[in-house]
Amino acid sequence: MSDDTEHRRAFPEGFIWGTATAAHQIEGGNVNNDWWAWEHTEGSGCAESSGDACDSWNRWADDVDAVAAMGLGAYRFSLEWSRIEPAEGEISQVALGRYRALCEALRGRGITPVVTYHHFTTPQWVADAGGWEHPATVDAFVRYCRVVTEALGDVAGAICTINEPNIVATMGYLAGVFPPGRQDIPARRAVNANFIDAHRRAVEVIRESAPGVPVGLTLSMAEYAALPGGEAKLARIRRGMEDVFLEAVGDDDFLGVQAYSRTWVDAEGQRFEGAEGVPMLVMGYEFRPEALEATLRRAWEVTGGRLPLWVTENGIGTDDDAQRIDYVHRALQGVLRVIDDGIDVQGYTYWSLLDNFEWAFGYAPRFGLVDVERSTFQRLPKASADWFGQVARTNRLVAPPSL
Ligand code: GCO
Repeated sequence: MSDDTEHRRAFPEGFIWGTATAAHQIEGGNVNNDWWAWEHTEGSGCAESSGDACDSWNRWADDVDAVAAMGLGAYRFSLEWSRIEPAEGEISQVALGRYRALCEALRGRGITPVVTYHHFTTPQWVADAGGWEHPATVDAFVRYCRVVTEALGDVAGAICTINEPNIVATMGYLAGVFPPGRQDIPARRAVNANFIDAHRRAVEVIRESAPGVPVGLTLSMAEYAALPGGEAKLARIRRGMEDVFLEAVGDDDFLGVQAYSRTWVDAEGQRFEGAEGVPMLVMGYEFRPEALEATLRRAWEVTGGRLPLWVTENGIGTDDDAQRIDYVHRALQGVLRVIDDGIDVQGYTYWSLLDNFEWAFGYAPRFGLVDVERSTFQRLPKASADWFGQVARTNRLVAPPSL
């Protein structure tokens, strides 16, 4: 199909266009979780504290305005467990009320609230009791899921149980660059298993308390590529990173696919250089929008096409907004190719609404469609927000301004 025609290609009727954030990355003042402690731990490698972030705990209405201004149909955000349950069994009605107000404001603007229950951060009281290595944390998480669903299930449009459990397990227990900073293969294996148990049990309690609200897991995936001799190592790495979770999605209502780039593997393991001539990004990986198509195809293959896919994160950390538009345009061309081959993709969510706290990298990587002035917290939409809004409102692949 000619490139020009692809620019006018329509997406399926009802395709869900959204953008996403996470509590700890935008709210500010989340001082009672393991990430706040990690950011203030000597030698953790964190570039800076999350601090006030984007002050979204207070300025959430500005975020709703920014999503509505683009004409998006969905906004994915996360709940901060440590705000809702600051100490074991102590539930904050104020925190629940604040999240309910956000959901109601979104619904009032015709925007579906996509609520993530756990997005990387764990309450300090849970971390102190042993964290995700211990089955007791699964019990605590399931109790939290029941409390939250009973409070918000009637206003949630869709629910993501756990964001990227594979990243939390691998970065926290194998790479040691997320809390608790461990490098322990058996521990990472136990954490993977506990996250899978937590997800399955969370789906059960969510379906009991909010029947009919779609629920699924969101998984970080990569386009894996083997260098000569790296095939066996690639299969082993990908199994622990992706396959064990893809095989555990059961009869969920959707699988959230979250993809950004490609991962090269040789016989020794993951390589951190890119292919010849491929630009590298501030995040330390390649500019590779085609990774989204590759991961959607693999998720569909490994799950046997049993459940719809939903791109719940895709985006680029860059100061070059034209590069952002180019990246998303090429990623969406890949989504159209996947849909043409009969793969059920429900929607596309751009990560992120705002330039925000990018975990150990701090505020340097700018993923947002909207800039946030660091001293005034003023929201400043970028040209990519305007372009992405055109795509969403027309439900068509609009040509990038530069083409
Ligand atoms: C993730 C996290 C986000 C990141 C995003 C960009 O999926 O890793 O959900 O919090 O900010 O992926 O790296």
